[in-house]
Amino acid sequence: MKALVLRQHGGLENLDVVTDKPIPQAIEGHVVIRVRASSFNYHDVFTVRGMPGIKVPLPVVIGLDMAGEISEVGPGVTGWKAGDAVLVNPLNKKKGLMGEMLDGGMAEYCLVAADQLVAMPSGVTFEEAASLPVAYGTAHRMIVTHNTIKKGDRVIILGASGGVGTGCVILCKLFGAEVISCTSSPEKVDALKKLGSDEVLNIKETDFSKWAVEKYGKPQRRSYDGGVDVVINFTGGDTWHPSLRCLKRGGKLLVCGATAGYDPKEDLRYIWSFELNIIGSNSFYDEDLKGLMTLIAEGKMKPVIDKVLPLEQAREGLRLIQDREVIGKVVVAP
Ligand SMILES: NC(=O)c1ccc[n+]([C@@H]2O[C@H](COP(=O)([O-])OP(=O)(O)OC[C@H]3O[C@@H](n4cnc5c(N)ncnc54)[C@H](OP(=O)(O)O)[C@@H]3O)[C@@H](O)[C@H]2O)c1
Repeated sequence: MKALVLRQHGGLENLDVVTDKPIPQAIEGHVVIRVRASSFNYHDVFTVRGMPGIKVPLPVVIGLDMAGEISEVGPGVTGWKAGDAVLVNPLNKKKGLMGEMLDGGMAEYCLVAADQLVAMPSGVTFEEAASLPVAYGTAHRMIVTHNTIKKGDRVIILGASGGVGTGCVILCKLFGAEVISCTSSPEKVDALKKLGSDEVLNIKETDFSKWAVEKYGKPQRRSYDGGVDVVINFTGGDTWHPSLRCLKRGGKLLVCGATAGYDPKEDLRYIWSFELNIIGSNSFYDEDLKGLMTLIAEGKMKPVIDKVLPLEQAREGLRLIQDREVIGKVVVAP
């Protein structure tokens, strides 16, 4: 079968589409799925580069997110049959993340433990389902499961054009928040306006923190005036300190990642003086994925898919994410 294989850590040139990888056989407690769609995340860029403390068994088929049809059911599996349409929760309970610690979704077929399967309702396409787990699932956990956003909240979303970011924009608007999206190019500004953002800032031209203080007033220590209610920040780096500065007293800083650096300049004075809440969020559970698929099936949301590429062009798809040339998700249809 065809598969996108990472040979060794480094640049994207270490990814190859092979055509002779054996189709996996269903073993005890597992099924094989015919992958219909798989999507990339920034996590795949980190996997290719190699992350401190994570020993990836190379070579590995990358790709955490996938949806498809069951093609073979292994011994001991109940409740599933060939032909069922399934979304895969990429977290394997014994080995870790698929597409990193074991073969993932960028292939024509994939071996999956049966307890990772989530049934797809009708009204959800394979492309939509495959765009959900890591990005939209994490956005759902951060916003819906952790109950962090309420109607009327002013919310700044950094990195709003990406996978997690577009998920946050859509979910915050569903909850009736006022959304201020931050991005880095004029065409992404247009796309985020179309997605329903109330304001969109190009961070190359505008300091989002100063902008927020000018527009909503300086946060006050003894009242709840000024600033924004929530900043969603999975960028880290030099965006962390400005995020603290524009939050109102009692505001929330939601964090689930650190694309630009995990050890930013910190200033604890803002946290105690303004009684800020730093709320971490990690990954997603089946409930998040079911919740998102229900919203799609009911017509309440649509994940933003920038491109659907064939497996032969998968490496280019990951380059687009690496180089910030994407709005929403890049899906691969093997
Ligand atoms: N903890 C978890 O479970 C979890 C789950 C999912 C994701 N994450 C993390 O969340 C982050 C976003 O993931 P994603 O898949 O949504 O990525 P993505 O699709 O690439 O989106 C990230 C966005 O951040 C901005 N960005 C990228 N590189 C940047 C840089 N060096 N400096 C500042 N901004 C940058 C870009 O937006 P603009 O060009 O518009 O600025 C980009 O669209 C990653 O760090 C990822 O590892 C964590």
